[in-house]
Amino acid sequence: MNDDQLHELLYQALETELGGVHIYEAAIQCAKDDDLREEWEKYHRQTTRHVELVEGALAAFGLDPSLETPGRRAVRRIGVSLVEVLQTALAEGPPEAAQLIAAECVTLAETKDHLNWELIGEVVKHLKGNAGKVLRAAFAEVEEQEDEHLYHATGWSRELWIDSLGMPAVLPPPEEQKDVKTAIGAARAKQVRAEMT
Ligand SMILES: [Fe+2]
Repeated sequence: MNDDQLHELLYQALETELGGVHIYEAAIQCAKDDDLREEWEKYHRQTTRHVELVEGALAAFGLDPSLETPGRRAVRRIGVSLVEVLQTALAEGPPEAAQLIAAECVTLAETKDHLNWELIGEVVKHLKGNAGKVLRAAFAEVEEQEDEHLYHATGWSRELWIDSLGMPAVLPPPEEQKDVKTAIGAARAKQVRAEMT
């Protein structure tokens, strides 16, 4: 294991979660649909918890959570940009457009978040000792939530777009109705939408 790169992954994971908290706060302001707002409020709470879990993992590795790295800075810039995009969309309107932009921004943020945890899932298979134990416990708590965040965000982006195009949309998206938490489940949900519309 390249320890330096593992530490880099944890720093980027922390920055992604910190950015995620702000992105959800801004996205909630853009939500028009009640189901979507409720979902984002739930994911905001979960993301706040993920910050604590990554901070706990950094502490277990004896790492300073405030350390800067070039990769971490890049992740932060992307997060700050996404929040700015959301604030601009909300200010400029119309509300339907802001909601759609928010769904896409959440999908972009959750794509990085999902990758981080997928990599952490690979890493914990090889780690021993207390730090490995802490990270493994964090992964066990977070894994399914991250799957849900990404697949559901993708579903909302697609269905809100389809609705905006004046075509029959499935809202809330089939990913949410079917409680999708795997890539196979997401593929099935898309098949279901094709049969429904
Ligand atoms: Fe997360």
